[in-house]
Amino acid sequence: MADPFISVAERLAPAFAAVAGSACDPVVRPSDRADAQANGALALAKSLGISPREVAQKVLEAAGDVSDILSSTEIAGPGFINLVFSNSFIAQQLFEATSGSRLGVRASARPETVVVDYSAPNVAKEMHVGHLRSTVIGDAIVRVLEFVGNTVLRENHIGDWGTPFGMLIEHLIDMGEQNAAHELSVGDLDGFYKEARRKFEGSDEFKDRARHRVVLLQGGDEDTLRLWRTLVSESTQYFNRVYTQLDVLLTDDDLMGESAYNHLLVPVVERLQKQGLLVESDGAEVVFADGFTNRENEPLPLIIRKGDGGYNYATTDLACVIDRVERLKATSMLYVVGAPQAQHLQMVEAVARQAGWLPEGSTMNHISFGSVLGSDRKMLKSRSGGETVKLAALLDEAVERAEVAVTEKNPEMSSADRSDVARMIGIGAVKYSDLSTDRVKDYIFDWDRMLSFEGNTAPYLQYAHARICSIFRRAGVERSSVRSVVPHIGEPQERELALRVLRFDSAVWETIDTLSPHKLCTYLFELATDFTAFYEHCPVLKTGHEDTRESRLALCDATARVMEQGLALLGIRSPEQM
Ligand code: ARG
Repeated sequence: MADPFISVAERLAPAFAAVAGSACDPVVRPSDRADAQANGALALAKSLGISPREVAQKVLEAAGDVSDILSSTEIAGPGFINLVFSNSFIAQQLFEATSGSRLGVRASARPETVVVDYSAPNVAKEMHVGHLRSTVIGDAIVRVLEFVGNTVLRENHIGDWGTPFGMLIEHLIDMGEQNAAHELSVGDLDGFYKEARRKFEGSDEFKDRARHRVVLLQGGDEDTLRLWRTLVSESTQYFNRVYTQLDVLLTDDDLMGESAYNHLLVPVVERLQKQGLLVESDGAEVVFADGFTNRENEPLPLIIRKGDGGYNYATTDLACVIDRVERLKATSMLYVVGAPQAQHLQMVEAVARQAGWLPEGSTMNHISFGSVLGSDRKMLKSRSGGETVKLAALLDEAVERAEVAVTEKNPEMSSADRSDVARMIGIGAVKYSDLSTDRVKDYIFDWDRMLSFEGNTAPYLQYAHARICSIFRRAGVERSSVRSVVPHIGEPQERELALRVLRFDSAVWETIDTLSPHKLCTYLFELATDFTAFYEHCPVLKTGHEDTRESRLALCDATARVMEQGLALLGIRSPEQM
């Protein structure tokens, strides 16, 4: 076990149990007064009818000799046990943690098949910053879950079906297929959509054509389907450009658009009908989801089939549940979708449960997130002041700005290296500024802050890593050559840094348990901060002692590995020089 907090809790648990007479949590927490504090005696005192200090005393007696892991134990205050890890224990744990590629992170004891539904932009519509958030957060969640051994299935549920496609296809025909394809492929999705919408609103003739086209599309007319496929493929090519720029895992293999579930829509209706859940309401077929009411306290319907026979977004999402559980055998389904869709997803889950499509032990979770705001705290606007921010342009700007920053910081870098590094920093900065705030909150998109080399930013963390790489370059030492060294822990800053490295496991698991990437960000920021303090106080190359130098190099290497791995779990690269 790498994390010393977990080791000590495991070590004290039998002593607590012996005193309590049954299993009992030692409640080990970090502490300002020592490395850790075991607070379990407080709760136990009440049930045993003796003072907490007495309980603590008995626990320590029952624990016996703990000198192999602790250099001191002390009963403090109302009955806390202050614990100080021994330096040799820390060093040994560090050596063990860094001897494997997982850097001390425990594998999942119960690996699952997890579907992560993320990104999901809409065909022939600009990807907006909400899709950016979903993409960045979803991708980090995928990487973290895979790292601990889950089977993770990425699904990009693009909006590629529904009534707007009548109008979009007619507009495509009006423009001429070639021209339309060109407009879409260069990423002017917004212009295309708006023009189609304008014609639809302004012309009855166009509206009639659009409606007729929907019927053809749903009826499987081959020529109509061909035009529809043009819309989809031009749009997905544009999405792919953004994904490549963003350096995320999504590929065409992950596309599972709304249209992929068409064959399941009739079965959804039939199965709901058979179970007696489908009822008629205002001319539509609906299910009343248990526990959902409107403001007037009337039951809230989930519309399954509209009066005109058309299906709804909710129907497709129910079909998704069936497909994910029954075909893919998913035990966990995660939806990385903006906060406004919370009720929609809750109702889909409720109906899926009522229908028995979500077996015991299969879970649906909404990974909700807030909005992206400009520095004026209003919805983010584009450079030109327009409403929609073009993601491709935004990401280009990130790289351009990073290039300026890198040139300033390291004018000697070759121009080829500089553009690689600028990409890693610029894209890293955009992703990190999104991931490092609690996802449920709105976050402010602020170029200067996110690209700063100070503070809780990607460049600061990347810089800590690059600095370590440069120490090794200067020393002329291979990083891997220090991995057989058990470090010597003496100075307080060495201790802090080593203890921090050992908390990587807890940081990853806390991120998974709360599905909150900002926990991992906070940890990596603390790691970078501890490294900075270490580097200021503990000379690495100029120590004069060969052993100290080796030991500190080993500590540096461990730090850099955890930093690089941690950033990689967030989908962020670590340049070796900056
Ligand atoms: N395409 C939708 C949108 O842009 C998001 C889809 C999210 N996933 C889902 N299974 N409903 O809002």
